[in-house]
Amino acid sequence: MDWERYYDLAWRARAEAFEQLDAGSPSLARLLALFDDHERRFSLAASLDNSDEPAYEPVKGFDPDPLAGLDRLDTKLIRGIPTPVSPYLRFDVSRLLADLARGRDCIVELGSGYGRQLFEIWLQGGPSDARYLGAEPSAAGRDLQRRLAEREPGLTLSGHAFTFTDPDLSFVGEAKDSLVFTCWAAYAVPSVHPDFFKRLAALPGAVTCVFIEPIGYQVPGSKAHVEASDGAARHGFNSNFYGLFQQAMADGLMEPVNLSFDQYSQGPSRLQFISVLAAVKT
Ligand SMILES: C[S@@+](CC[C@H](N)C(=O)[O-])C[C@H]1O[C@@H](n2cnc3c(N)ncnc32)[C@H](O)[C@@H]1O
Repeated sequence: MDWERYYDLAWRARAEAFEQLDAGSPSLARLLALFDDHERRFSLAASLDNSDEPAYEPVKGFDPDPLAGLDRLDTKLIRGIPTPVSPYLRFDVSRLLADLARGRDCIVELGSGYGRQLFEIWLQGGPSDARYLGAEPSAAGRDLQRRLAEREPGLTLSGHAFTFTDPDLSFVGEAKDSLVFTCWAAYAVPSVHPDFFKRLAALPGAVTCVFIEPIGYQVPGSKAHVEASDGAARHGFNSNFYGLFQQAMADGLMEPVNLSFDQYSQGPSRLQFISVLAAVKT
């Protein structure tokens, strides 16, 4: 599966969905919420070879009855343990990122899609005087990000062409204290460039790197390691991210400050597990 091509098509389809949902309210928060509700009801189906444009299809078994939802328990995986929880329980990635962004002057997302995580940081009270930079290969993703950002005049956000296979970070420019993060992006790249961490470590000022990726399958002993490691390469998922991360830490390019594997999984697939790797360069 060519995920880069898939996402370019998917961001185009989602841009159309945003257009249709835009009922005239200038509120970005409201539009994002309407979009989330739309994606609970309809999922974007894609063919594995990207031969067809992805199209929205109704989600089977979606039950919009909130009272039934209160009675129901879904099985989520928390630290690998199947746990029955309310469908209303979520792992709050936005809060985590906004907390990490506090006090920084530069916030960079690599593989930012339409900028959703950057918008979430902003809407959760992220720093008002920081630069927010979305780095993304898909022109459709960058274009949608630009249009959505127009709804938040106080937000300084720009989009930049970027790929993990030859990461050019010159768009970051001068910064004193940056948060550079990925969220479900590096896993979709079969092989990240061998100098990826070296280039991150060469950024100016203090840099905190946080990778929120379902890459537990690359870590022997992690809950997600079993099963998913075989299928991952076959489906075009990443195979070298954790190895490069470990090597970069061993070489002293950065200092690892947190490794949280398999925190939470929204669904039963081991590729849905959230792992968080954090490292700093001072
Ligand atoms: C699951 S989406 C996540 C988007 C965003 N991080 C978010 O959380 O909303 C994966 C993103 O990775 C991007 N991507 C795919 N291949 C890439 C590559 N080689 N370099 C950088 N980003 C890539 C896709 O275009 C897409 O925007």
